[in-house]
Amino acid sequence: MTRPRFTLTVVTTADGYIARHKEDAPQLWASAEEQEIFFRDVEAADWSVMGRHTHEAADRPDRRRIVFSSQGGGWKRPTQLWLDPAGLTPTDLAQQVAHIHPLENGLILGGTAVHDWFLDHDAIDEIHLTIEPLTFGSGLPVLTGQGGRDPRETFSEAGFTLTEDLPLNTTGTRYTVWTRAR
Ligand SMILES: NC(=O)c1ccc[n+]([C@@H]2O[C@H](COP(=O)([O-])OP(=O)(O)OC[C@H]3O[C@@H](n4cnc5c(N)ncnc54)[C@H](OP(=O)(O)O)[C@@H]3O)[C@@H](O)[C@H]2O)c1
Repeated sequence: MTRPRFTLTVVTTADGYIARHKEDAPQLWASAEEQEIFFRDVEAADWSVMGRHTHEAADRPDRRRIVFSSQGGGWKRPTQLWLDPAGLTPTDLAQQVAHIHPLENGLILGGTAVHDWFLDHDAIDEIHLTIEPLTFGSGLPVLTGQGGRDPRETFSEAGFTLTEDLPLNTTGTRYTVWTRAR
């Protein structure tokens, strides 16, 4: 089985945070334009992959989700698989869900440790990064150790190339797309 293609979609503050704390869902502070992009990406994906906190902050029983937890858990709902990714590869994820729906285009929904896991496996093919004109000063960073800095520097240093950088509204939100050759 070939590795699925994975897109990371994420909204950050200008200082590189994805949340103030673990229950802080993006819809509480992100722009309406960002939320449209988010739902477009969710609709386009075969499966979304996220950590337990992100799942619990926005539970959607009807969605196809792979939820990371060190406790595992198995199929908690017909389209929601909880697993511990330790010792697994991104291709293993596709093998585990193929009988429900093929995983060809996966969406990485965070949080921090889930971003780290895909980066460590060199399995982020594209990034849709929206940057809101806000600063939190502290909170959960987009990648471990990267809070307090421009997320464009973070992804550039991580080996990604900026291919689009557009204003999303008149209040200063920017939408950026990043790619990396497979
Ligand atoms: N701004 C954005 O675009 C964005 C994106 C995503 C999330 N968020 C927000 O960020 C907050 C949650 O982020 P978060 O970083 O706290 O949490 P998270 O990744 O959603 O959840 C963390 C939990 O997921 C499990 N987990 C994650 N990676 C794992 C790994 N490699 N191996 C085993 N288990 C793993 C663990 O669960 P166990 O404790 O069960 O082991 C861990 O405690 C929420 O408020 C969410 O709404 C924002």
